Amino acid sequence: MRDKEIIHQAAEIIRQGGIVAFPTETVYGLGADAFNPLAVARIFEVKRRPYFDPLIVHVAHPADVKKLVKEIPSNAKKLTESFWPGPLTVVLLKDENIPDIVTAGLPTVAIRMPNHPMALSLIKESKCPIAAPSANPFGYLSPTTAEHVQEQLGDQVDLILDGGPCPVGVESTIVSFLEERPRLLRPGGVSLEEIESVIGKVEINPNEQEKPSAPGMLPRHYAPRTPIVLDWDEKNLDIYKNKKIGLLAFQKTKNHLKFHSVEVLSRKGDLREAAANLFAAIRRLDAMDLDLILAESIPEIGLGRAIMDRLRRASKNVYVGFNNDKV
Ligand code: TXA
Ligand code: MG
Repeated sequence: MRDKEIIHQAAEIIRQGGIVAFPTETVYGLGADAFNPLAVARIFEVKRRPYFDPLIVHVAHPADVKKLVKEIPSNAKKLTESFWPGPLTVVLLKDENIPDIVTAGLPTVAIRMPNHPMALSLIKESKCPIAAPSANPFGYLSPTTAEHVQEQLGDQVDLILDGGPCPVGVESTIVSFLEERPRLLRPGGVSLEEIESVIGKVEINPNEQEKPSAPGMLPRHYAPRTPIVLDWDEKNLDIYKNKKIGLLAFQKTKNHLKFHSVEVLSRKGDLREAAANLFAAIRRLDAMDLDLILAESIPEIGLGRAIMDRLRRASKNVYVGFNNDKV
């Protein structure tokens, strides 16, 4: 079937209250009509996501935001004008018409306009905003290909739209506008530097919040089954000598021979390329039945901040979500 016909079919499913996995430029989402609480409830069930964790509402045009919120602060407007369509989510005071299940009962709603032709066509044809989390079981890595979605949620969703690999590869940057100063809730596909170049200094959430303001920002998240270790010392590799170890390297690798398998995120050291490869590379290592994945730290500039955020969460040893028998 041609893309157009499949999107048509997907939109019909959304209008009838079904759930569809679809590509965005960041990661694949699992979407439902944001105004249909029953359809949205199915997303939570399929993902095994706790109801306290609100969803992002996706729109196809900046003007659609007006119908979803009480007001749009000028800094939020500046950011959406600069980065939409794109990997930016804004959190604003919500209008009453949005069902509580979407926002987990919060007085606020997270909104974004994705930069992907399939996502935009789907939202337009569905004629409703689409509430969508990443299309993965709760706590696990976000999918960046249709195959990833198929492997984990395949038989539980009504349709998977295949738009190939996601070009950005990490989730959107979330900025909240509820306080005096804008606050970065999650680093993501638009870098902090880019955000601050448009609206000046923003507040930054501490990494290790136990009671997060974005509930999805629990310390352990984005985790594969295989334990990931981030803080390790090249000189002490001997302590792992009887273990089957994988290496998640940023650029070049010195110790190839010591590892069972190596994934290099970007040979030329490009942070955008590294972000685009991140989740797929971790998945490949996770499929190799390793005892441990050692991950290299990367520079926390530009997209490096989002990558390190995901690596830190993936390497926490307290598991909050999906069944995990190795940790
Ligand atoms: O790139 C993305 O943002 C992808 C694609 C599919 O758009 N979506 C995504 O959704 O990553 P999800 O559900 O995996 O992560 C959304 C995050 C969660 O941490 C959630 O707690 C937070 O957004 N969030 C949603 N609504 C919020 C709100 N009203 N206030 C604060 N945080 C909110
Ligand atoms: Mg997610």
